[in-house]
Amino acid sequence: MSSQIDHLLNEDRRFAPSPEFAASAIADADLYARAAEDRLGFWADHARDLHWHTPFTEVLDWSNPPFAKWFDDGELNVAYNCLDRHVEAGNGDRAALLWEGEPGDERRVTYAELTDEVKRVANVLEGLGVVAGDRVAIYMPMIPEAIAAMLAVVRIGAIHSVVFGGFSADSLRARIDDAGAKVVITADGGYRKGKVSALKPAVDQALSDRGAGVQETVEHVLVVRRGENEVDWTDGRDIWWHDAVPAASADHDAPALPAEHPLFILYTSGTTGKPKGILHTSAGYLTQAAFTNRVVHDIHPESDVYWCTADVGWITGHTYVTYGPLANGATQVIYEGTPDAPHPGRWWEIVEKYGVTVLYTAPTAIRSFMKIGRAVPQSFDLSSLRVLGSVGEPINPEAWMWYREIIGADSAPIVDTWWQTETGAIMVSALPGVTETKPGSAQAPIPGISIDVVDEQGRHVGNGNGGLLVVTEPWPSMLRGIWGDPERFVETYWEKFRDQGFYFAGDGARLDDDGDVWLLGRVDDVMNVSGHRLSTAEIESSLVAHEATAEAAVVGASDETTGQAVVAFVILKESYLAAHAPEGLAQQLRLWVGEQIGPIARPRDIYIVSELPKTRSGKIMRRLLRDVAEGREVGDTTTLADTAVMSVISAQVK
Ligand code: WT7
Repeated sequence: MSSQIDHLLNEDRRFAPSPEFAASAIADADLYARAAEDRLGFWADHARDLHWHTPFTEVLDWSNPPFAKWFDDGELNVAYNCLDRHVEAGNGDRAALLWEGEPGDERRVTYAELTDEVKRVANVLEGLGVVAGDRVAIYMPMIPEAIAAMLAVVRIGAIHSVVFGGFSADSLRARIDDAGAKVVITADGGYRKGKVSALKPAVDQALSDRGAGVQETVEHVLVVRRGENEVDWTDGRDIWWHDAVPAASADHDAPALPAEHPLFILYTSGTTGKPKGILHTSAGYLTQAAFTNRVVHDIHPESDVYWCTADVGWITGHTYVTYGPLANGATQVIYEGTPDAPHPGRWWEIVEKYGVTVLYTAPTAIRSFMKIGRAVPQSFDLSSLRVLGSVGEPINPEAWMWYREIIGADSAPIVDTWWQTETGAIMVSALPGVTETKPGSAQAPIPGISIDVVDEQGRHVGNGNGGLLVVTEPWPSMLRGIWGDPERFVETYWEKFRDQGFYFAGDGARLDDDGDVWLLGRVDDVMNVSGHRLSTAEIESSLVAHEATAEAAVVGASDETTGQAVVAFVILKESYLAAHAPEGLAQQLRLWVGEQIGPIARPRDIYIVSELPKTRSGKIMRRLLRDVAEGREVGDTTTLADTAVMSVISAQVK
């Protein structure tokens, strides 16, 4: 880690925005001054950019920390703000979604059309008995209906829980059960890598063979036809979208809902085996989503063509596909498939075809394009691009420079945006018309956000030093809790710096001599693989659920393309070995994890070993396993119960 830090801090390239860019940018340097002068007044002003059914009079209620209430006595409707408002302002004909299917089919959906569709779906859901506060699970491919489904759910005050389509039936079931979903919205399947990848069968499986004692909460499954794959049908429960939605009325008045009304739950991995249902509420979330999308991505709704490549199954897709851009009335590209289907230039072809001006993606994607080589993007016209964004993991200076030179014609500003499922929206980032950017640094908290880098005791480390990233003041889009588990919420994020009242993000960071922030990765047992968050404990418990496994330890090892990769060390059961040959078992275990959690969680490497390094109190020393996984000399082993164990493991891994 320390050589990596030195390398980063020796980075002295600087890129200022061009004077023309700065002159036309949405955000100017005054934003920082205004926010510093009156932070709450600043957020109140941005909240007032939204349409309120009932204006708020109070900005922040922090009388019961860490449970914040923003704009608490106001009322609004999030879907109305993303849809009807733009139609009523005369922008109904503007394209909201420029959708491109993986096979090359396309749909242009205007704000008027999307509003109409969402009203119909809202009526369908109400007809199915969904009322405010009910939970609706959404398990869909990247098609316009996924966005319409989210907005219809929140329009009626219900709460969505979007589950990424790449998650397994087991993961889906756990999320449906935890939230007690009443309806599931899905599709027969969607296109991925040139084939139809089925979704409805996973829903069927999730809703069958439930464990004893689990109360079935799901009453209906609403199914979009997309893949045209064969699906089983449960009469009375399953409903085709194309039967119900067009038949429903397109009249639907958006109800006024309290500012703190729950908006959605999104599950994310933590340090334990059980994913956490992160809860976000309405007005504060939408305020920060819309504001950051406007100032960080520099969205001019009347002229930009924005493309955030994230799936709506992740927080990036919630905030920067569904809520932020639509609240701003922007036009955005949505692409269903994978970057390399049917050819490696697919993304750049889309940029050229739609004239994308603002691109927001993850370092892992950039690194995989780097690997393929510049000839592919250079065979397309990318001259429309004027802002580039990065999110999800630290971006190394090499990838940053490649992104700038090859994709951004050496002129488009890059914004490296740090945030989390929990923060709801961007927290640390350059402003593209203001900041002189540095390759590899997320730079500074955005206006209105207070962050710091502190030591274990919560003391500011000062420029030139490393420590832990904390948020020192409540912010509008902060999580309001963990679904059904307020204690875990307090303990996970607020216990560590309780005296100071800081939010502990779980990331290491360093301040350079100018006070700019450089993110250094997680300091807990959370891994980041291709910008996706995975828990070591969750994968370990999946591995030990296999009949062959006695014990397992998982680490995130650095990987050139994916940032980190999952590497597992597994001890097999004697009883299993007595009856089975171990050949092929590592591969079987990889597939097993893929089936249990989802393909993204499949370990890159599985090593079968006879022991694991443990302290005298029995804690696995992952740091030493990481040394092995990354092919380094093994570090200090003096606190191990048995100091010889690492040489045994190293020999078994070779
Ligand atoms: C974790 C949050 C934010 C949406 C996507 C991921 C890492 C995120 C950056 C960045 C360095 C980053 C952190 C964070 N992370 N953005 N720009 N530079 N690290 O959301 O799944 O909730 O993961 O992603 O480690 O804690 P998430």
